[in-house]
Amino acid sequence: MSKTDLYAVMGNPIAHSKSPFIHKAFAKQVGHDIAYDPALIPTEENSFSKAVQEFQQLGCKGVNVTVPFKQKAWMLCHERSARAEKAGAVNTLSFDELGRCLGDNTDGVGLVRDFTKNHQGQLNNKRVLILGAGGAVRGILEPLLAEKPTLCTIANRTVSKAEELVQLFADEGTLIACSYDALIGQQFDVIINGTSASLQGELPPLPDDLLAEHAWCYDMMYAGTATPFITWALAHNAQKALDGLGMLVEQAAESFYIWRGIRPETQAVISRLRERIIREQMMPKAPQTIDTNTTTTTQPVKFMSKKPVNEVGGPEGPEPTRFGDWERKGRCIDF
Ligand SMILES: NC(=O)c1ccc[n+]([C@@H]2O[C@H](COP(=O)([O-])OP(=O)(O)OC[C@H]3O[C@@H](n4cnc5c(N)ncnc54)[C@H](OP(=O)(O)O)[C@@H]3O)[C@@H](O)[C@H]2O)c1
Repeated sequence: MSKTDLYAVMGNPIAHSKSPFIHKAFAKQVGHDIAYDPALIPTEENSFSKAVQEFQQLGCKGVNVTVPFKQKAWMLCHERSARAEKAGAVNTLSFDELGRCLGDNTDGVGLVRDFTKNHQGQLNNKRVLILGAGGAVRGILEPLLAEKPTLCTIANRTVSKAEELVQLFADEGTLIACSYDALIGQQFDVIINGTSASLQGELPPLPDDLLAEHAWCYDMMYAGTATPFITWALAHNAQKALDGLGMLVEQAAESFYIWRGIRPETQAVISRLRERIIREQMMPKAPQTIDTNTTTTTQPVKFMSKKPVNEVGGPEGPEPTRFGDWERKGRCIDF
């Protein structure tokens, strides 16, 4: 009889998470028997570590961790990969036979793989500008600097946070911290938006002539329609304007590889997920379920389903038309 291996993604909120869809699609693709469920964890002190312990006792093989618990996950690990160590955040937990908790951070490798492999973009010898200096940017810096850009500038609203990152990663490349005002008169080949401004429908204050010729723009956020940064990039003649959906799937593929020892194929999953978020965006909004710490305490810390993987993954449909008019205009929007 086959034994289903158990995995989960923990966060707060968590209902929006695409990780169950992605991991079940990977498992179906490679014929592995897994259950992967979202777990809403209360934000009270110790709730996260208790939940991890409980999941481990249930026989869970691994956990993905999302906002706001990535730093807590880092702290409770017995061992961390070198990239997680430096990132100060863990998004992938595995449990070994000795009961130890091992941590990794796959966000950076996800971004670099999406940019360089899926889109054939180049970071090597490029002038790269990163907008933002939060947890996500810290997580991507090491893999990004390993690509050896000529220069990597980090611009942030709170400049001191960008300066901290520059100090921390100074050994790994040529890094500069600055304010948005200091970007006036500078040009870059690649701009990566790692702020959460798009979540509020906002954009950091960017000068008009920031993009070098043939520049690429990448928003770590993704949506069913163009984010404010993608809209800005296209309006300023970026050669490519990409969003972070591919990064999301690639970081998940790396987690899957850590857990299952096999690297799933990602293109079909990215396409199906794209189709799904566009469809979701077009659907009338259902009344909102609010994930706050007032509702989370009722959330049982257990697996919510054990659906066989062949039941999940969403309806199969025609490949979405991803590029439309922009491709014909010689530019490409990938959202
Ligand atoms: N695609 C993926 O797989 C993936 C993975 C991880 C994260 N992400 C995305 O990455 C983004 C950042 O996440 P995070 O965890 O780093 O968040 P975070 O730690 O809260 O950091 C937020 C950053 O955004 C800046 N910011 C927020 N609102 C802004 C505004 N209106 N104008 C200018 N700057 C603003 C903050 O600047 P201050 O320091 O000045 O406050 C800070 O640098 C989110 O959109 C998230 O969805 C995507």
